[in-house]
Amino acid sequence: MKIDLSAKMQDALNKQIAYEGYASNFYLALAYWCDFHALEGCKKFFMRQSEEERIHMLKIYDYLSDCDIHPVTPAYEQPSSQYANIQEVFQKVFDQERSVTASIHSILKLANEENDFNTQQFLQWYVDEQREEEAVIRTIIDRIKIIGEGGQSLYYIDKEVEKINNNIIATDTGNVA
Ligand code: FEO
Repeated sequence: MKIDLSAKMQDALNKQIAYEGYASNFYLALAYWCDFHALEGCKKFFMRQSEEERIHMLKIYDYLSDCDIHPVTPAYEQPSSQYANIQEVFQKVFDQERSVTASIHSILKLANEENDFNTQQFLQWYVDEQREEEAVIRTIIDRIKIIGEGGQSLYYIDKEVEKINNNIIATDTGNVA
């Protein structure tokens, strides 16, 4: 079935491909920052997250392709590999997710203005996904604050993030304890 997308919508979705792809690279950079700092649990969290963002990106490729539009493969800005500490890492992640959420909402607003029912429905999955992702990052930031900055805090932060990551994997695979 051919779905008509406005030129504006095509442009917005191609930009979203770039945002999701950048997010995937950003999380890859963070995974190896964590690896360098011996934070194995955090590394696993970011490796999984990097894979997920790639899937978010590919879903838009498929949607554009379904609409008979050629998706634009983006060039990415290089993510930083320098962070002061794990607190800064998770704050940057939160900021990143907030900006992706804002972008999804603005495309949805455009879809509403254009009575583009297919794109409205397509984007609903992203609205839910962003809400869940923001909630997870907020939880991690709160736990980091509770753990504090004592001598073994990094050890406990890493264990906590690993536990949260395992819960996400269990939920995704339907193996919730
Ligand atoms: Fe797909 Fe977390 O942005």
